[in-house]
Amino acid sequence: MGQSRNLQNFFGISLTILVIAQTAHCQVLSTDNNAVSLKAFQTLWNSNKGSLIASPFSLRTMMAMLMAGARGNTREQIKSVMNFPADEEKLFTTYQEYIHQLNSPSEVKTEVASRIFLKDGYLVQENFQNILKHYFQSPLQQISFDKPKKAAEEINNFVSSKTNHRIQKIVDSSDLTNQTRMVLVNTLYFKGAWENPFPTTSTRRMPFFLDETRNVTVDMMRLETYYRAVDIKQLDCKAVLIPYQKTKKEEDTFQMVILLPNKKSGLASLEKGLTDFGLVDQVFNVRPRNIELRMPRFNIESSLELIEPLKQMGITDVFDENKSDLGGIPTVSKATTKEDKKENQLYVSKVVQKAFLTVDEAGSEAGAATLSVVFVPLSIGPPVEEVITVNRPFLGFIRDARTKTILFTFKKTD
Ligand SMILES: *[C@@H]1O[C@H](CO)[C@@H](O)[C@H](O)[C@H]1NC(C)=O
Ligand SMILES: *[C@@H]1O[C@H](CO)[C@@H](O)[C@H](O)[C@H]1NC(C)=O
Ligand SMILES: *[C@@H]1O[C@H](CO)[C@@H](O)[C@H](O)[C@H]1NC(C)=O
Repeated sequence: MGQSRNLQNFFGISLTILVIAQTAHCQVLSTDNNAVSLKAFQTLWNSNKGSLIASPFSLRTMMAMLMAGARGNTREQIKSVMNFPADEEKLFTTYQEYIHQLNSPSEVKTEVASRIFLKDGYLVQENFQNILKHYFQSPLQQISFDKPKKAAEEINNFVSSKTNHRIQKIVDSSDLTNQTRMVLVNTLYFKGAWENPFPTTSTRRMPFFLDETRNVTVDMMRLETYYRAVDIKQLDCKAVLIPYQKTKKEEDTFQMVILLPNKKSGLASLEKGLTDFGLVDQVFNVRPRNIELRMPRFNIESSLELIEPLKQMGITDVFDENKSDLGGIPTVSKATTKEDKKENQLYVSKVVQKAFLTVDEAGSEAGAATLSVVFVPLSIGPPVEEVITVNRPFLGFIRDARTKTILFTFKKTD
């Protein structure tokens, strides 16, 4: 990892995809948010020991879309596990407004895109289609799943175009069978520069401890500036808040929060202990102090199959070909008779999320120009009150300060 490589802005991407299939017996398939984020992420932590990045926001958005087509117990399970309010109209309007906000031009670039791929020659209930189009900005695209290779290519092209080509492939032709009726895709793209970039000249090769004894060498960035940081005794960790560029009106936009265990091998107990984000909230309110922060440059990339974690959380019926009730979607062939319609049962056969996160010193060339302005030589700054070195496995999340929504959660273990 040479110092000379082109700097990229920090960015994150998430992509969730949901495949709806038809059963074989017919011819053919905010605080609330954060509580769910935590639950979802804990389920994932438990089943993945290594580094991990996920977007609970993207998953929850997809579940809201799915709920719009679900009925009966299938709908109740999604609603209760995802903590969706009783007033659905209000939920959908909230999504509509927030998606609009995320897609508006801003200092930090975020973009949410969704699309429904529907089998050629099939019809979707108008109400379902209208909800997705109106509130989630998800247009419908007809696609021929009978040609799985071409269908996978079309879906992957959409995904690639919406993720700045960082994620090129989400489905394989083998994921699409002649029972596939519909594929829902949701992408979330995030690109932001730090409010205070790390000077590239300060980056040094330093050890990162995998556990009490083993270490690897990483590129450790370094910056002395005013940060909010607190000790959280109950979790035996420190929380540090690293802000992204503010708006022109000096309003906060996005923030990264790092949860750093005090012990080199403290990650596992932190994961277990973190049952309530309320414990972390204090970091948003403390007085910023002059801190020297050392943090590695890093990349995390994950591809997560989400059906099992969702089942563990309590959403089961929608994945069961015999119990699933997606009666609000029906994708019936234009040619289908009444008898066939009765047998049409849809269920979700695959949920995958791919996510990608890269963190480095500053940003693009434009961002680099500000480096000399913000750099304060150590000798004339106020005394450093604390040195925080992120040199052991840690947790983190990226949060929208305006809505307190957590967009990404991650852990870095190596
Ligand atoms: C669907 O595919 C399976 C196996 O790939 C095949 O056995 C079956 O006949 C196909 N069904 C239809 C309706 O084409
Ligand atoms: C890091 O590990 C190497 C062996 O791989 C060891 O020689 C070195 O002392 C370790 N560094 C620290 C700071 O513990
Ligand atoms: C659904 O029902 C069919 C027929 O009774 C059975 O063969 C199949 O195993 C059931 N599937 C599940 C997931 O229980």
